[in-house]
Amino acid sequence: MLSPKTIEIIKSTVPVLEVHGTAITKRFYQMLFTKHPELLNIFNHANQKQGRQQHALANAVYAAAKHIDQLETILPVVKQIGHKHRSLGILPEHYPIVGENLLAAIKDVLGNAATDEILQAWAEAYGVIADAFISVEAEMYEKAERQQGGWAGFRAFRVAKKEQESDVITSFYLVPQDGNAIAAYEPGQYVSVKMEIPGEKNVHIRQYSLSDSPGKPYYRISVKRVDEEEGRPAGKVSNYLHEQIQADDVLWLSAPAGDFVLDSEETRPIVFLSGGVGQTPLISMLQTVVERQPNRPATFIHAAQNSQVHALKSQVEELADKHRQLSVYWCYSQPTERDVESKAYHKAGHIELPWLKEMLATPNASFYVCGPVDFMRAMNTLLKQCGVADSDIHVEFFGPAASL
Ligand code: HEM
Repeated sequence: MLSPKTIEIIKSTVPVLEVHGTAITKRFYQMLFTKHPELLNIFNHANQKQGRQQHALANAVYAAAKHIDQLETILPVVKQIGHKHRSLGILPEHYPIVGENLLAAIKDVLGNAATDEILQAWAEAYGVIADAFISVEAEMYEKAERQQGGWAGFRAFRVAKKEQESDVITSFYLVPQDGNAIAAYEPGQYVSVKMEIPGEKNVHIRQYSLSDSPGKPYYRISVKRVDEEEGRPAGKVSNYLHEQIQADDVLWLSAPAGDFVLDSEETRPIVFLSGGVGQTPLISMLQTVVERQPNRPATFIHAAQNSQVHALKSQVEELADKHRQLSVYWCYSQPTERDVESKAYHKAGHIELPWLKEMLATPNASFYVCGPVDFMRAMNTLLKQCGVADSDIHVEFFGPAASL
């Protein structure tokens, strides 16, 4: 239990953290990786370089500090992050390391302003926050291991099939090398892939959504090759998967995780809105809906640049042919000439309000949205303009959670 005085200190220093938060976490990472270079095997270097994880951690610290006397109110967020941590293999013994370095960074950046009293209060508060994460994650580890076909840590999977889905997306069908059962998962969940790349000092871990419905004897991931762009290096893991990993090669996976999942109790119409490779968890959900809820109206709207980068198109079209409950719409922002000639899409340009309103037979639906950050923001605004309640919009975007 924190004393009222400690709580007061923590709350009064939140504004200071908000000003210096990013500087503190930047310094924190420098210190952390200098003292504990082995942690470079867990953290995503690309996110580090772009400063994304710094913001995620800074935001998490503000949120926790603001709610330090009622941490239960941020439990859903702790669980969301806990899924990611469990999937990465973060353990209780990692928390004091992060705590020590975070405190040292606060001291370093704030200088004399960080009095002993303030540092002591933050040390105590960090302990309380860390305990909340550790206990949530302990339950998740137990569940992952106890579940039938489940496992702890990383398990070897053989690539049973590699299938190109578009110019930029390739699917990998993965079966466990030990020949035993695999854990069930909820549509929308992801796995972490741990990859050793020849010539690289550290191993890399990346999360990929499972892109098929559960109940199959394999896991399928559909990976976008991340090409170099201005301000962003090429994706090391995605390129290695595309170029080097072939059928019969081995990938190391942790058990499925994630809380962006289909609410299968719900029977109202369901609408999926996806941008680019963000469609992967939604395709798992879509397949599950048509398999298990044959009377539930479903709409699948997918935005891509054009047919060349539009993955899994024929698979979704086959579903629509087979299941009357399903309506499918493609929006191409940059259709090719052939797309125009063959009428390969339903809408040119981005998804816009009048078009979306027309497509949505009823706003009384449950919406699942996944794609890049800009896409998510645009869809969120459009759905609100259509009168959809926040509680009916389920979202996940790719990359670290930008805000809590
Ligand atoms: C991801 C917060 C402790 C390693 C994250 C994210 C947040 C966060 C907000 C982003 C989640 C997302 O991407 O959806 C925290 C907080 C902690 C804590 C508040 C302490 C109370 C730790 C510890 C470790 C760790 C002890 C291990 C040393 C990671 C890694 C990621 C992550 C590797 C994935 C992101 C990346 O690789 O860039 N954490 N974390 N975290 N966390 Fe933590």
